[in-house]
Amino acid sequence: MRLLSGASDECEPEWCDSEDPLFILYTSGSTGKPKGVLHTVSGYMLYVATTFKLVFDYQPDDVYWCTADIGWITGHSYITYGPLANGATSVLFEGLPTYPDVSRMWEIVDKYQVTKFYTAPTAIRLLMKYGSEPVQKYNRESLKVLGTVGEPINPEAWQWYYSVVGEKRCPVVDTFWQTETGGHVVTLILSIVPAILNESGEELEGPCEGYLVFKQPWPGVMRTVYGNHQRFETTYFKKFPGYYVSGDGCRRDKDGYYWITGRMDDMLNVSGHLLSTAEVESALGEHAAVAEAAVVSRLHPVKGESLYCFVTLTDGVGFNRTLEAELKKQVREKIGAIATPDFIQNAPSLPKTRSGKIMRRVLRKIARNEQDLGDLSTLADSSVIEQLFLNRCCGAV
Ligand code: WT7
Repeated sequence: MRLLSGASDECEPEWCDSEDPLFILYTSGSTGKPKGVLHTVSGYMLYVATTFKLVFDYQPDDVYWCTADIGWITGHSYITYGPLANGATSVLFEGLPTYPDVSRMWEIVDKYQVTKFYTAPTAIRLLMKYGSEPVQKYNRESLKVLGTVGEPINPEAWQWYYSVVGEKRCPVVDTFWQTETGGHVVTLILSIVPAILNESGEELEGPCEGYLVFKQPWPGVMRTVYGNHQRFETTYFKKFPGYYVSGDGCRRDKDGYYWITGRMDDMLNVSGHLLSTAEVESALGEHAAVAEAAVVSRLHPVKGESLYCFVTLTDGVGFNRTLEAELKKQVREKIGAIATPDFIQNAPSLPKTRSGKIMRRVLRKIARNEQDLGDLSTLADSSVIEQLFLNRCCGAV
């Protein structure tokens, strides 16, 4: 009270230039070192405010709930800036979808009469495991639109979201975008002029598959990699000059729909979070027992992908459970809980090309127990393959 009485009623805003930095969010880079994605004040806010309004058909009487973590880009764009700029009534939730029980989401939907709901395929797959009964305990009549983001949504998860959660009344709005794009760039309702290119950079027409790129700039695109503008240009604009390169693969079907097929580079998507193989490999490599590490993804029923790590140990070191646990802990501490490896395989040698490059393509097949290894003509020593198959880590996670 004492302080309040002495304070002014006026609070002059801090005036910013439209291109002043708004925030920096770090995202994985395919070379291992995370990139500081820098967004600026006006373009970003204009873009997230507009896409929020149009893509979710936001109306003043809506109650909107995005389940993301506020510290990631989805939370920045579609919990904080986009909804607030529209004056939207929002539910903010800090907690787990499974605590105190697996009906938590639907209980909240009914309690606050949520109309627009936005979540990730990994959350849908997690809840799917418990069947429809926990969903049907609540009536969810308020729901109108169901959004999804973070990774390709698999048909089973889409069907469950549409039929069980939305009772076939609510459109499922898939939104493709990235930390770098600031906001949605491919959705059912609006898209930023996408194109699909082949390896030589030619634009493909009709049904096809290739690199997903964007032909026009948009207000919310990142402005630079903080402290390294050169890296910004190289990562997004060098491979195909004149286009923004997303790094994802994409298929266009005969009806003109775009199907995102996943990353074309050495990136993994664990529960909707991007990680680079290089970043996990260097965390493993910092352990004294590890001479070399190679990391690939293995498909996971809930997380989408999970980490499968091959480690070559330093001479004289034996592989055992204690070391395995230590290595998992090491990655968890260096990168974060999301990056905790599911599998660590002892690999006395790794498949390499004659020029010494680790063939992750082959390791990915071994991790997934796929016997058709494709073209092995560049492999330096083929005897390592059989050994790696024999020592595969089996079993569910
Ligand atoms: C990568 C970006 C966008 C906020 C969360 C992740 C994948 C994202 C989709 C989608 C298929 C998707 C892509 C993309 N991704 N949304 N709807 N369908 N894939 O942000 O950590 O910057 O990751 O996530 O691979 O490149 P991010």
